[in-house]
Amino acid sequence: MWHWSVLPLLLAGGVLAGTRFERRSFTVGPDSFLLDGQPFHYVSGSVHYFKVPSAYWRDRLTRLRAAGVSALQTYVEWSSHQPEEGVTDFSGQQDLEQYLRLAQELGLLVILRPGPYIDAERDLGGLPYWLLRRQNVSLRSSDPAYMEAVTGWYDQLLPRVRPLLYSNGGPVIMVQVENEYGSYSSCDAVYMTQLRDLLRRHLGDDVLLFTTDGGADYFLRCGPVDGAFATVDFGTGSDAVEAFAAQRRHNKIGGPAVNSEFYPGWINHWGYPRNVVSTEEVVNATKTLISLGANFNVYMMLGGTSFGLRAGANMGDTFEACTTSYDFNAPYTESGNITDKLYALRELIYPYTNMTEVAVPDPLPVTSYGEVKMTWQTSLLEAVQALNVTRVSDSPAVPFCDVHQAYGFVAYSAEVTWKPPQPAVLSVPGVRDRGYVWLDGRPVGVLSRAESAFSIPLLAAKENTVTIIVESLGRICYGDIHDRKGILEAVTLGGRELTNWSITALPQDLTQLVPETPTPQGDALHPALYRGTFSAADPPADSFLHFPGWHKGVAFVNGVNLGRYWPAVGPQMTLYVPAPFLRAGENTVTLLEMDGAPCGPQESCAVALKDYPDLNGPTPDRISP
Ligand SMILES: *[C@@H]1O[C@H](CO)[C@@H](O)[C@H](O)[C@H]1NC(C)=O
Ligand SMILES: *[C@@H]1O[C@H](CO)[C@@H](O)[C@H](O)[C@H]1NC(C)=O
Ligand SMILES: *[C@@H]1O[C@H](CO)[C@@H](O)[C@H](O)[C@H]1NC(C)=O
Ligand SMILES: *[C@@H]1O[C@H](CO)[C@@H](O)[C@H](O)[C@H]1NC(C)=O
Ligand SMILES: *[C@@H]1O[C@H](CO)[C@@H](O)[C@H](O)[C@H]1NC(C)=O
Ligand SMILES: *[C@@H]1O[C@H](CO)[C@@H](O)[C@H](O)[C@H]1NC(C)=O
Repeated sequence: MWHWSVLPLLLAGGVLAGTRFERRSFTVGPDSFLLDGQPFHYVSGSVHYFKVPSAYWRDRLTRLRAAGVSALQTYVEWSSHQPEEGVTDFSGQQDLEQYLRLAQELGLLVILRPGPYIDAERDLGGLPYWLLRRQNVSLRSSDPAYMEAVTGWYDQLLPRVRPLLYSNGGPVIMVQVENEYGSYSSCDAVYMTQLRDLLRRHLGDDVLLFTTDGGADYFLRCGPVDGAFATVDFGTGSDAVEAFAAQRRHNKIGGPAVNSEFYPGWINHWGYPRNVVSTEEVVNATKTLISLGANFNVYMMLGGTSFGLRAGANMGDTFEACTTSYDFNAPYTESGNITDKLYALRELIYPYTNMTEVAVPDPLPVTSYGEVKMTWQTSLLEAVQALNVTRVSDSPAVPFCDVHQAYGFVAYSAEVTWKPPQPAVLSVPGVRDRGYVWLDGRPVGVLSRAESAFSIPLLAAKENTVTIIVESLGRICYGDIHDRKGILEAVTLGGRELTNWSITALPQDLTQLVPETPTPQGDALHPALYRGTFSAADPPADSFLHFPGWHKGVAFVNGVNLGRYWPAVGPQMTLYVPAPFLRAGENTVTLLEMDGAPCGPQESCAVALKDYPDLNGPTPDRISP
């Protein structure tokens, strides 16, 4: 029998060596997909290019292909490509076309999910933060303030996708409209129609559009749109027969059963025990999907990492921030290591897809670089005082987006201009998500949205300065995503409003805060910046940063933001350091530690680079410093 991956060579034109071929097509038949007119089912796997260093794309896609799948499924993250208003980037780490061509070269079809909203446990569900600058904007709706930006984005994105469509010789067989829209409160049918029409206008009538929603009528009420094939998503605990029956009720044309997100693991939040799905459960559920002749996507086959403070957050019982690692307990680990789950799934997938077998590549080398001695550089407050003020405002209610701060930290400072009672309560009801408070240079406490800790008693005097450095823990990515960060309401001291605020956005590259020579330590030991160096042989190898005795902060290697670390609350104890971020010779580790380094004044402290991760630490003390 032929294998589809030889088709790109044969079928580009339609007539070859006197033989008439079907035009390259991918469509929905009565009870299966039709690839070039022939019944076809796929198994795909999710690997997101924006969670893998581009130097590792080939390695990760080769691993995906070795799992036996016939297709790659990936989201497109709008905020990665348009990080600021008016800026568009499709180069380097953002070179989506290269990623999709690489998939094709490795023999994979592609199922593309261009959002615009994607969730993916990313800040604001992958939407760019600058949309929140638009007053009263209603995200994921037909609100012109939102759709104007979507239209501009699709004008950039979709012309790049069109040549990559299957019918045009590329790998893309399906394109998703929005993402789990039926789970969103606004239920705006006009919006879904507008998105569908934009996709059609740019991509033409040949491409198969689809939607994805939870596998129950409740979710399918608002998710599907006419002209797009409705699919469902569900994990190992769900009744597949029921879910596919619901899917069928919403597709007038019938069509195959499709689970667009079959979960072999699950997401994680700081402070909550690691989520694990057993291999046996995954194997059982996979057998069921295969016995039903379903198409399914393993979400995630390899989860990767939300480097650079790009992880999102969810509203559960309280505000819950997603971990930096997106390991997902997937068949391949965050760093591409092989698990039993991968071998078990592979045995089921190959006979079902008939893909020619590709051996699983050996794991990439890992190295233990050992202890890295960290030395004090400066207190965060001092570093911030050396920056230029971004804006002066009578009210502190200036969110991150208004001072063009995508992620990280913003400092708010005001003087007490009257004699307050002793003590007086400092009240900051609108802090999102954590506020580190100083009174005249002395750290006096931490405010926390997750714990509804919005006030601190202060012994303040007239002419004292109150400084609050606010940290974003990631914008909410699911549910009500209108999550502006910073301070959103008036701040009072003893019931009276503090006014005349100086507001300073900290640089995204926090290593810029390290002074040429370390400042004296003084009494205020944290938050503070620390730095250390280590040497790597040529070529460098993957490693994992361990934080013995450290609490919470942001880690950089050679100026690359590895993400948030927070071993004090777990469960993620280490950060992944991919070899492409390292260089042969000297490498620099920089930490912004928020809650306390494991050493006092004059002592040195250390982090350690080891050859194994720890994503399953204890979660003893939710959120509290
Ligand atoms: C935003 O909404 C508020 C309250 O609904 C309203 O007073 C204000 O005029 C609106 N602003 C804009 C720019 O539409
Ligand atoms: C998996 O299926 C087997 C055989 O049907 C059953 O005995 C076992 O309990 C199942 N395991 C899980 C975790 O569901
Ligand atoms: C794989 O081969 C079997 C047996 O020839 C066939 O029934 C099945 O449809 C094929 N699957 C795919 C995805 O082509
Ligand atoms: C602060 O502003 C001045 C004047 O615009 C500029 O020369 C200087 O580089 C700025 N300093 C920083 C740290 O941005
Ligand atoms: C506001 O604060 C700045 C800096 O602290 C100060 O120079 C200025 O005089 C203050 N303005 C008012 C009106 O108090
Ligand atoms: C890779 O997996 C093996 C087997 O589970 C384990 O011994 C090893 O520590 C893992 N390495 C990394 C870097 O995860």
